[in-house]
Amino acid sequence: STKSYSETFRPQFHYSPEANWLNDPNGLVWYEGEYHLFYQHHPHSTVWGPMHWGHAVSKDLVYWEELPIALWPDHNGAIFSGSAVVDWHDTTGFFNGGSGLVAVFTHHDTQTPSGVPRQSQSLAYSSDKGRTWTMYEGNPVLEDERHVDYRDPKVFWDSERERWAMVLAAGQRILFYHSPDLIHWSFGSEFGASEGSHDGVWECPDLFRLPVDGGSGESKWVLIVSIGPSDELAEGSRTQYFVGEYDGVSFVSDNPPDTVLWLDHGRDNYAGVTWSDVPAQDGRRLFIGWMNNWKYANLLPTEAWRGAMTLPRELGLAVCEDGVRLRQMPVKELEALREKEFRINHAVINAGDGNLLQDIHGSALEIEAEIKLTGASAFGFRIHGSAGQGTVIGYDASRSYVFIDRRNAGISDFHPDFSCEHGADLKPSGDILKLRIFADHSSVEVFAGDGRVALTDQVFPGPEHQNLELYVQEGSIEIISLHVYGLKSIWDS
Ligand code: FRU
Repeated sequence: STKSYSETFRPQFHYSPEANWLNDPNGLVWYEGEYHLFYQHHPHSTVWGPMHWGHAVSKDLVYWEELPIALWPDHNGAIFSGSAVVDWHDTTGFFNGGSGLVAVFTHHDTQTPSGVPRQSQSLAYSSDKGRTWTMYEGNPVLEDERHVDYRDPKVFWDSERERWAMVLAAGQRILFYHSPDLIHWSFGSEFGASEGSHDGVWECPDLFRLPVDGGSGESKWVLIVSIGPSDELAEGSRTQYFVGEYDGVSFVSDNPPDTVLWLDHGRDNYAGVTWSDVPAQDGRRLFIGWMNNWKYANLLPTEAWRGAMTLPRELGLAVCEDGVRLRQMPVKELEALREKEFRINHAVINAGDGNLLQDIHGSALEIEAEIKLTGASAFGFRIHGSAGQGTVIGYDASRSYVFIDRRNAGISDFHPDFSCEHGADLKPSGDILKLRIFADHSSVEVFAGDGRVALTDQVFPGPEHQNLELYVQEGSIEIISLHVYGLKSIWDS
């Protein structure tokens, strides 16, 4: 890339736009050797405004190339979130019997007689690998005046019934539709009257089948639902999921209605969805989220751009004590970024010992640790450190709780709810705790217990915060293995 991406806080191995505003990932699709990442984008400002689809492509989910804007607002309104699929058999008739990409998105129209914005679902298509797009002249293809919030269509090919399926968010429900051609849609059912969290408006659903770990051949359907921020709750916007069954018409959750499952226990992973059309021989279910929170998204202390994506992650289903639960790990391709390795195996560290990591400095790092709990009440890493400041990623053994504390992580005065500590319960697996941590210039992502707990947070520490510390409280831990890697920037090639 010829771009420098060297500004303070600029992510070095996460996607961010060269300039201006970014929110939700959109149109995630793999086609002819490229992963497409479209995204909610305002090309004229660093705050949210009339939405366009920005565009980037990658061959490996690591290095991204930003392309010109794909979708511009038109007479039907601004371009809100949605998905993209490969129309392999030209069910739409857009491709003269060949194949191409179809984007299915929400048109958000503010120019209505009543003044109340209207949301409807529309199509655009591309025959040149997503470089140029044509709006379908029959837009919109799906409207329902009963719903004010009616958006974020995620479409997939339902191979069992040989037709397209759509999940759509309406108020605090998910609606299921199906179609032979992406143009004519039939309503199937509604989900969510009594299930899950209703802390805010439901947005950006996704629905897919995943195999359950353990080799039994069993699989389950996962329904992802992002929920908007409420004024009362400090958590802001966050993402829940349901595990259950889907029969082409309706989704039924396996869990009691009051079960709430969070996809991420940090504050900054929102509106995430998964890639369509990943080749069957790969077979992975790949996810990316907007690494942000509507509570303060418009206020972040960056200048040229505002907003970034999480790392791309591979999803799976683990069998846990309470049932089948989502697990996630960054894609293996990211190992290509590792350089400068520090490694230590089999070492006992006691509370009060000096900092084992005092010679390591950096602000783009990966830490991979397998720690045996041998009596310490807590241990953890302080990253982006300097002069008593830093982000703490810790494990409280007395409470079996993994957490991020960003109260002293750098700039936080742009919103009163930004400064906080939060985490999730996680039992060690036979005294062993596994942690994988990615620290970039303005974020930290933690994957604990083989990805059963994910914590994604933004932090704004500034360039002088380069120290790394391992601390132990009251007692000892045994390092089974600890690797720390400096990570290359994806923008210096
Ligand atoms: C989620 C969301 C979507 C909407 C888009 C608008 O973050 O509110 O529901 O389509 O952002 O930019």
